[in-house]
Amino acid sequence: MQGISKRFLGVVALDNVGFQVGKGEVHALMGENGAGKSTLIKILTGIYQKDEGEIIFDGREISPKDALEAQHEGISTIYQELNLVLFQTVYENVFLGREPMKKGRVIDRKEMIRRSREVLDDMGIHIDVTMPLKSYSTAVQQMVAIARALTINAKLVVMDEPTSSLDTQEVEVLFGVIRKLVEKEVSVIFITHRLDEVFEIADRATVLKDGRLVGEFDVRELDQLKLVSHMIGREFSALERNKKDFDYNDAQTQVEVKDIYQGVRLNGIGIDIKKGEVLGLAGLLGSGRTELGRVIFGDLLPDEGEVFYYGKKQHFKQTEDAIKLGIGFCTEDRKVEGILPNLSVKENITLAMLPQISKFGVVSQKKQNEVVNKFIERLKVKTPSPNQIIKNLSGGNQQKALLARWLCMNPKLVIMDEPTRGIDVGAKAEIEALIQELAAQGISVLMISSEMAELERNCDRVVVMREGKKLAELKGAEIQQDTITEIIAKAHHDLSEEVAL
Ligand SMILES: Nc1ncnc2c1ncn2[C@@H]1O[C@H](COP(=O)(O)OP(=O)(O)OP(=O)(O)O)[C@@H](O)[C@H]1O
Ligand SMILES: [Mg+2]
Repeated sequence: MQGISKRFLGVVALDNVGFQVGKGEVHALMGENGAGKSTLIKILTGIYQKDEGEIIFDGREISPKDALEAQHEGISTIYQELNLVLFQTVYENVFLGREPMKKGRVIDRKEMIRRSREVLDDMGIHIDVTMPLKSYSTAVQQMVAIARALTINAKLVVMDEPTSSLDTQEVEVLFGVIRKLVEKEVSVIFITHRLDEVFEIADRATVLKDGRLVGEFDVRELDQLKLVSHMIGREFSALERNKKDFDYNDAQTQVEVKDIYQGVRLNGIGIDIKKGEVLGLAGLLGSGRTELGRVIFGDLLPDEGEVFYYGKKQHFKQTEDAIKLGIGFCTEDRKVEGILPNLSVKENITLAMLPQISKFGVVSQKKQNEVVNKFIERLKVKTPSPNQIIKNLSGGNQQKALLARWLCMNPKLVIMDEPTRGIDVGAKAEIEALIQELAAQGISVLMISSEMAELERNCDRVVVMREGKKLAELKGAEIQQDTITEIIAKAHHDLSEEVAL
């Protein structure tokens, strides 16, 4: 790609950017939130049209008008926001828009089922492809998107943050798939905010900043700090544990849940959260962490068990009940239940606090603007104006707006499900500092994260979960990413032995 420029109303998303990917190479595209990564690949894959520049693919100039045209050229894409149809079956999603036909223009379902099974099995994902996609976790859905890309027989596969909703084991599966692609001389463009992944999988890296090219680098000649310095344009020292020791002696218990059972996901779990504590929940996907958070938020009614808030037994029937008591919940799935895509940044931020700033049903514009401006600045949400439609923001900036929605409510407890998913390193440091600040003010945080390093840096206590039960609890200096990983891996190993027996 040469001399690529792209402007949106009020924003220069790309300014004269050059980008080259070699055959059979894994190329990481890096940069802060809003740097222009997604825009660049959307131009490559026909979603957006460039204002200037040219695209040369296999020695020939191309200018795909839409995704289908890019597909015909052999470019296949997995977008940051999954483009799948949840109520359709897995196999229908794999072949969405290019169903194989039998004679007489009838869709060949047998063939679709057979080939979907084949690709997914090959990836190590053994699921019933005739089930609706919505019956599976986000991670499995992600894998289906990848399977879809693979069946296109692409020469170039573009992945925009494919790992943000995967846990460590699933990332390994994905990397296995990428290595297989490379063996077949397929090229891969890989966008991620997880730096260690770049060093594990990529050969070269291109860094963008504010829509401009910073440079192209050989990954072997980089280290994490150098890479981050290129991304943020200044020296960067590693993310550090910035929390103080929590004093459990006279800590007040804020939330206590006892013997919670819910569906198949929660199997008799109990935890307590102290006022001003950052409590982490670790575990693999499907271990019940999110479900536990939802029970505390009144979003999921337990079949059995009790929830106490400051010693008083609660019967949350709906989330409003919990919100009234000062509990907030930042969801992990910003697309499905998080943002309202067609509303402005301002409306999205103040959504949950509207009752607080309204009188007789009329929203105080002055208060609304005050709050919004404060949090846009605080979280450095990159947007041309508070009135921008939120879906036009980059993925990471949408996530920040979502965090702002709950933080602006003066909550007493914030449940954060993967709070830094899709957020760049610089912003991550700021959000982590904010979490510590909240805790110091006596606001509790329940932090659900698949990133062990993030738990280590931020939590006073970590509860490790598996299959809806508490597996272990770590406190203070015991909280180390390797320890958590080991506990999870060991439990997993024990379980597979049980199954083998
Ligand atoms: N459709 C659009 N309309 C208006 N502005 C847009 C649109 N798409 C992107 N932008 C703006 O272009 C800039 C680059 O966005 P882009 O999504 O490419 O960033 P990114 O590098 O992918 O960031 P992230 O890591 O957060 O996903 C941002 O300022 C964004 O708000
Ligand atoms: Mg993006």
